[in-house]
Amino acid sequence: MKHLDTGIATEIVKGLKNPLASLAPKFFYDQKGSVLFNKITGLTEYYPTRTEREILEQNSGAISEAVGECATVIEPGAGGCEKAEHLCRLLRPHRFVGVDISADYLTAGVNRLKKVLPETEARAIAGDITKEITLPSDIPRDRRLIFYPGSSIGNFDPDQAVKLLSQLRKHLDEQGSLLIGVDLVKSVSVLEAAYNDKEGVTAAFNLNILSHVNKLIGANFQLEDWRHVAWFNQAQSRIEMHLEARRENSISWPGGQRAFAKGERIHTENSYKYTPDAFASLLKRAGFDSQTPWTDQKNWYTMVLARPSSMPRRVGRLAC
Ligand code: AVI
Repeated sequence: MKHLDTGIATEIVKGLKNPLASLAPKFFYDQKGSVLFNKITGLTEYYPTRTEREILEQNSGAISEAVGECATVIEPGAGGCEKAEHLCRLLRPHRFVGVDISADYLTAGVNRLKKVLPETEARAIAGDITKEITLPSDIPRDRRLIFYPGSSIGNFDPDQAVKLLSQLRKHLDEQGSLLIGVDLVKSVSVLEAAYNDKEGVTAAFNLNILSHVNKLIGANFQLEDWRHVAWFNQAQSRIEMHLEARRENSISWPGGQRAFAKGERIHTENSYKYTPDAFASLLKRAGFDSQTPWTDQKNWYTMVLARPSSMPRRVGRLAC
């Protein structure tokens, strides 16, 4: 067992003990999970990454013009910083700040970025973006761009997404902006294939959360007792990923245990798919008014540049 972080252990145990058991998707990303996710992004069935790249490449001039002068690019969930490299080549900011829960993977990414783009000052900040992030005070506040690609926002339910975007907005002044990638609603067969690839990489990624949990809390999950399942929940407009028990099994960890019946599931991830209008109103709720979207030819994916709504101007006398 790794050095036990009691906050993390409490969160995991709470999810496991819930009658409808769940594990938060952030626990996918240990070193192996990050490598597997990287592999997913290159799969034929997994269209979001390449579609986003196409949108960025085909609209690079318009995007850089719309962003304008940018001093600092901040990327929550930066991972190995591959996308950051492309954006930094385009926007040439003074500095790049990557934030990620998987500290080792992020540090390796930032170090690579420093080598390939020596003129950009690159920094790694280990942190959980689902909690409030505090940025070091020497990172200037003006002309920041928060880059949140990969449709990671889809892994939060709409209310959580509004909360997260509102938190990110606090790191921007009125000249700042947010460039965000969002996966759009499309045919169920395309969506479901993206989360059930033939090679089984997504299955390995999903199952790896159990090894990570074993390491984090000292549990005894046997991966061969579980199988990956994923489908599109039309009513909620989301892909759901679960792990389903192949047989009855009892899981224990220091201080607790949970029995699972055959067929019982652990919910590991939601991936919400939006219509352009639904996402525009979500951004509005989070305090981003002016929005410029770019999409691919099939309308499968969108990148939106959003700016914070201007602060309400006070009219009349201030109350004493
Ligand atoms: C990180 N996130 C946007 C991915 C998604 O598509 O929801 C995670 C993923 N899960 C399975 N495949 C990819």
